[in-house]
Amino acid sequence: MNLALSLFGVSLMFVAHFLGAEPLSSKDLQSAKKIINNLCIACHGADGNSASSVNPKLAGQHAAYITKQLMNFKSGKRDNAVMAGMVTSLTEQDMINLGIYFSNQKITLSMAKENGIDSLGEKIFRAGLSKKGIPACASCHGPAGHGIPDTYPRLNAQHSEYTVSQLNLFRVGKRANDSAKVMRTIAQKLTEEEMQAVADYIQGLR
Ligand code: HEC
Ligand code: HEC
Repeated sequence: MNLALSLFGVSLMFVAHFLGAEPLSSKDLQSAKKIINNLCIACHGADGNSASSVNPKLAGQHAAYITKQLMNFKSGKRDNAVMAGMVTSLTEQDMINLGIYFSNQKITLSMAKENGIDSLGEKIFRAGLSKKGIPACASCHGPAGHGIPDTYPRLNAQHSEYTVSQLNLFRVGKRANDSAKVMRTIAQKLTEEEMQAVADYIQGLR
């Protein structure tokens, strides 16, 4: 292949990566669907849009983030009894396939209950609370909460109940799989009221 063609190939891969459009081979797609129908569907839905607010939506989440979480549940680095049981039989290739599958699904949007424009939730998300040393969530998770592959997960439209639960787990250190304690340090500075407000705002982000 000449240089121009190979550069074109690389840039196509780059674009596909950013759009979350990495295609799965039909064999890997069938294998991911089989696992989902057997193990995941009851809690996360067939397309990763979970109906219950205690189970996170996975649709549209970045593939590498999903794979990392599954590997962390398996190694115990992210401590959750329910998910630990789900991943015991999964291979690394299964976890990669599941990440790509869910990242290619479309997240169903939702609404904030109270935290819209000019709310406490918006302030925390967009500007942070500088007096308390809380940075803007948007500085890492993006202005609309879409995250940045592969480092910062998507947050927007997530069930607020799940988001509050994760912030509390980071706060007490029970979730400790964030590198350099980035989320633990932030969550320790948030009050319960602030967590509720920012999680409600995030649920309504599009
Ligand atoms: C019995 C319900 C249940 C089943 C079945 C289940 N999950 Fe989960 N899943 C959860 C809960 C609850 C959490 C949140 C765990 C926590 O608080 O850390 C979760 C978290 C996750 C996360 C982390 C999401 C994030 O945003 O960090 C991923 C990825 C995931 N599940 C994938 C799967 C896959 C893939 C399957 C099937 C192999 C599966 N789950 C089966 C309940 C379930
Ligand atoms: C300096 C960068 C940074 C800032 C600022 C930041 N985060 Fe995060 N956040 C991360 C990283 C990195 C992760 C992924 C941790 C991991 O690998 O599991 C994360 C994960 C999360 C998760 C878990 C998502 C899931 O699906 O389980 C939530 C919820 C979250 N952040 C909320 C917030 C909120 C709310 C704020 C603002 C108060 C915020 N973050 C500010 C870097 C940041």
